[in-house]
Amino acid sequence: MSTHIQIVPDSLALAGAGADWLAHRITRKPDLTILVATGQTPMGMYGHLAARVQAGTLDCSRVTAVQLDEYMGLEPDDPRSLRGWMERAFVFPLGIRNVVPLDDPATFTARLRDLGGLDVAVLGLGPNGHLGFNEPPSSPDAPTREVTLTPESLESNRGYWDGLAVPTQAITAGMDVILAAHETLLLVSGTHKQAILGAALDGPQTPDVPASFLRRTALTVLADREARP
Ligand code: F6R
Repeated sequence: MSTHIQIVPDSLALAGAGADWLAHRITRKPDLTILVATGQTPMGMYGHLAARVQAGTLDCSRVTAVQLDEYMGLEPDDPRSLRGWMERAFVFPLGIRNVVPLDDPATFTARLRDLGGLDVAVLGLGPNGHLGFNEPPSSPDAPTREVTLTPESLESNRGYWDGLAVPTQAITAGMDVILAAHETLLLVSGTHKQAILGAALDGPQTPDVPASFLRRTALTVLADREARP
């Protein structure tokens, strides 16, 4: 497949360029089905998109948002719920009405199949090369499933929840789902992602770096200079 790498000066530029990329595709196909990452990296981009919706220059009312990952064992109103984060950051501000939640693997997989799969996957890059919660090692055919988070992911997610413990069990959209998206946008920002982005783009395709398999897809990497000097 093809890999297109776009380098921008900083995280502000990343947000604008990411919003341009996705808005273009929503305009071309208003009923786009989008896999939606949470985490810090895409938040600026989602803010830009929300501003365009508010300004009336972008209509997302026919978009379907598909949840990428979730912790297990949380009450629905738990502040750590990734569904809640996706709704606050993406679904509600963009006026999206259709959501495929990641509640259990069989239901999720069936709903996605009925929708004809993903048009677009919007992803961040884990510090250990994970995608969603596809922790290393994850093979390209790894299905949607329950997983135990690695110590590295627990540590990196700790920053999101201000003192609350990070649940150790999670559920993730599979590598098979992610790699079957028609197009993928990988957003990467910061010096702490430099080495893992290098491994994902320039190293061998290996389950030890799940993101390395994105090179099998129609991939756009949007990185700032700190992540890709
Ligand atoms: C979030 C997710 C994670 C993050 C990754 C990077 O839904 O699936 O894979 O994308 O851990 O997180 P940030 O963007 O916070 O560096």
